[in-house]
Amino acid sequence: MDRRPVGVFDSGVGGLTVFKELEASLPHESLLYLGDTARVPYGIRSPETVVRYSIEAAHFFRSHDVKMVVVACNTASSVALADLEREAGVPVLGVIEPGARQAAARTRTGKIGVIGTRATIRSSAYTRAIHAANPDLDVLAQPCPLFVPLAEEGWTDNRVARETAETYLRPLLEAGIDTLVLGCTHYPLLKKVIGDVAGDGVDLVDSAEAVSAEVRKVLTTTKILLASRDDAVPRHRFYVTDGPEPFHDAAKRFLGRSLDHLELAEIAGE
Ligand code: DGL
Repeated sequence: MDRRPVGVFDSGVGGLTVFKELEASLPHESLLYLGDTARVPYGIRSPETVVRYSIEAAHFFRSHDVKMVVVACNTASSVALADLEREAGVPVLGVIEPGARQAAARTRTGKIGVIGTRATIRSSAYTRAIHAANPDLDVLAQPCPLFVPLAEEGWTDNRVARETAETYLRPLLEAGIDTLVLGCTHYPLLKKVIGDVAGDGVDLVDSAEAVSAEVRKVLTTTKILLASRDDAVPRHRFYVTDGPEPFHDAAKRFLGRSLDHLELAEIAGE
């Protein structure tokens, strides 16, 4: 039994989609969330910059004594996972591999679409991870940067969201994908519109769901899982690097509830 919290890292508020899945699948674990709201978005930045920010986040988690770190941010998972692993000093799990493995297992036609931020798509991290699972699969990748502001604005099911999805997904659908990886923290909020536009023949893979199953596995195999203890009451804490109020408002949209413990984080380099 290890009562230390599980760290959850994101560039901002979007990682709450992963937080939500972790909370549901590991109801006795305490979670410590860090959203780097002062420097969001990561998805438009160079790999070097995302690595630098991620290393600072790793040091924050080290100083808060977490037992593992889940990298909810697809962009940071794509370009900075090895650096995070090296600096955090505890097991670190990103969202790319769990999502990629699930997509590779589910496709029937062998054609998989991947959508994400520009930085995630440019890194080809999903393509590499899917090919590691099965080198014969075709991967078609498409950056969808406008989905992030749409999700944060709460425009998840209106005409603008629909037309944006139609424009972004058209080339993937024309190429005949049967599986689509939602490779960004924000995209699960647009699942309905993306699913409508993609149609019934396309299976959506939610990396947030895929990673929470893997977290349970890591906690079990390293024997630091607390989930079997019915008396363990979780205590979640949320840290942001800027403006707790806007984060709190957005969090209500992402989680459907208010946050109890939210404070400003001190991270090196700020
Ligand atoms: N969290 C980022 C991701 O999943 C999206 C927002 C950003 O660009 O920072 O890639």
